[in-house]
Amino acid sequence: MPLAVRRTLFATCVTSLAALGVAAAAGAGNGGFLPASPHSPNAHRITQSFIFVTIFTGAIFLLVEGALIAFVIKYRRGKRPATAEGPQIHGATRLEIIWTVIPVVILAVIGAFIFYKLPGITDTPKAKAADETTIQVEGHQFYWLFRYPNGAISINRMVAPANQVVKEDVIGLDWDVNHSWWVPELGGKFDAIPGRVNHTWFEAPAGDYVARCAELCGIQHALMDGNVQVVPRSDYDRFIATRASAAGTHNLGREEWQGVCESCHRLDHKYIGPALGGNPLLADPKALGTLLRTGQGQMPAVGRNWTSHQINALVDYTKKFAKSGG
Ligand code: CUA
Repeated sequence: MPLAVRRTLFATCVTSLAALGVAAAAGAGNGGFLPASPHSPNAHRITQSFIFVTIFTGAIFLLVEGALIAFVIKYRRGKRPATAEGPQIHGATRLEIIWTVIPVVILAVIGAFIFYKLPGITDTPKAKAADETTIQVEGHQFYWLFRYPNGAISINRMVAPANQVVKEDVIGLDWDVNHSWWVPELGGKFDAIPGRVNHTWFEAPAGDYVARCAELCGIQHALMDGNVQVVPRSDYDRFIATRASAAGTHNLGREEWQGVCESCHRLDHKYIGPALGGNPLLADPKALGTLLRTGQGQMPAVGRNWTSHQINALVDYTKKFAKSGG
């Protein structure tokens, strides 16, 4: 290959790679290369740790790759014969000590910073009982179910009080599969492992935060998302009181239909499962309850631990579909 062509090819490759890297970084922005902007003290500390580690790894990356490229250019063969050998070097004690000590120091600094931040990430802050709420987070194929202290239930949408410590018990049901509860703006991932309970927490200002299942849990894993609505304490209290009363039944039923049934069913056409419009089961609490609690064929027992209140709430919402045919 003529030298001019080789030079052009090399320059094109370097420029393209650099452009690709810069464009990716610019395009990714927040939520891409960087964690989502944190809204809870533990999430803040996770982001700080991420940035701290990235400074070191970024500098090392630039140093190593930069040196590699510079050396490739500076020591290229040029006019020397292909068989020419470079000078043979054995041992360089000072150099070896330097390249051992520097990484050790870097790792020690990173380790010290992380261990300094860790308690603030994992430990729930001390709060007065009145300023503390525990919400149970149950992972199901393929929805999130939230239980509040007064027994109220919601699906795929957690409502939580603002600026107070909210403890989360992340529960894996022993007949289900692994899921992972993740609200990027409110902290790290916590696995819902069958038969176990994991604990985490957040303390966030009012706002709407996206939640995800971060563990591949089956064909509808991608649909297993939701949100955390953080609202003033009085709104939260009103929400759970209403939801636990007869007035909240219809909304619970709607959430069950949209969050659970619609993961696999539509009224008017076959989706993952058969079309449901006009199916008399939708108006029959007994038959529907049996189906949800035991499953059938391809359909898992999505409502295995549902109470009759939950079944009735669903039927209260779906009975209209049994007649209308969609
Ligand atoms: Cu649950 Cu992915």
